[in-house]
Amino acid sequence: MATRILRHLTGAATPTAATPTAATPTAAGPLGAGAVGADQVDADQVGADRVGADRVGDARFGSPADAPAGEEPAAAVRVRGLTRAFGPRVVLDGLDLTVASGEFVALLGRSGSGKSTLLRILGGFDDEVTGDVLVARRRAVVFQEPRLLPWTRALGNVVLGLRGTDVDSRGRAALAEVGLAGRERSWPVTLSGGESQRVALARALVREPDLVMLDEPFGALDALTRIRMHALLQELCRRHRPAVLFVTHDVDEAILLADRILVLTEGRLSFQAPVALPAPRLRTDPAFADLRSRLLAELGVQELTDVH
Ligand SMILES: Nc1ncnc2c1ncn2[C@@H]1O[C@H](COP(=O)(O)OP(=O)(O)OP(=O)(O)O)[C@@H](O)[C@H]1O
Ligand SMILES: [Mg+2]
Repeated sequence: MATRILRHLTGAATPTAATPTAATPTAAGPLGAGAVGADQVDADQVGADRVGADRVGDARFGSPADAPAGEEPAAAVRVRGLTRAFGPRVVLDGLDLTVASGEFVALLGRSGSGKSTLLRILGGFDDEVTGDVLVARRRAVVFQEPRLLPWTRALGNVVLGLRGTDVDSRGRAALAEVGLAGRERSWPVTLSGGESQRVALARALVREPDLVMLDEPFGALDALTRIRMHALLQELCRRHRPAVLFVTHDVDEAILLADRILVLTEGRLSFQAPVALPAPRLRTDPAFADLRSRLLAELGVQELTDVH
């Protein structure tokens, strides 16, 4: 159980005297630094007055570092008994979830099963919940649509809300990392879908998050661009080692990218499996096909079989 009960709507959290462990960086990240949420607003921007030692309904918010020593190893996400209802409709129903530091977890689930709801909660944008929510304070969310501000150039979008003297150089470096060196002054309207999503990735990356949550980030891209984005994401993860929670409808994408795959059904995780396939992961590998079949069955999808 958490020793600290925090409310941090945007992920910002100020260590209090009651939280001696909070100032100690862990493998889950330097908890205590500013966070980035769904709209990529730096926590500092919205002010520390949103943070307090309050109880929010029956929910408890904090960071994994708030858990007492010895409870569990460092994690980027630790959720226990999370419930979220919209009126009479219970979308998340006592959900338990742990994402280890540096782990890449893919989350599958039927449309309407609550995947985006979960990400919104973990991003700090929804606190109408019950349960324990411990999440790394430095986190970023990337959505299916890049959500770039049209009146700000690529670089401006990347560094939006950041402070410091080296902000521009950090933004340039992040753009270079996603293959957009030289496009700093491009307006969003002049960027392709893939380029826009690269800017969104750079915007997440520049904040050096301990946890990156992606909500169907490549769903709107064509197949070729998607393959390139997979390679880019894998490379970025190798370099920066954030924990990743990756929501997708694409079972193959999940198997190609993730260390572990979860399926959300009726408000809980109904299935989870590590992906123990050697690299490079090939669709032709029987183990790949086997895992795909199990996942599709769990999702209630019947595989098309070759009738020829
Ligand atoms: N603000 C809201 N008010 C009322 N109902 C909501 C709200 N947000 C989400 N819901 C409902 O919660 C359920 C889960 O929605 P959510 O967006 O999390 O699904 P999802 O798993 O992300 O689906 P998809 O795969 O289609 O993106 C849906 O039935 C949705 O209608
Ligand atoms: Mg969704």
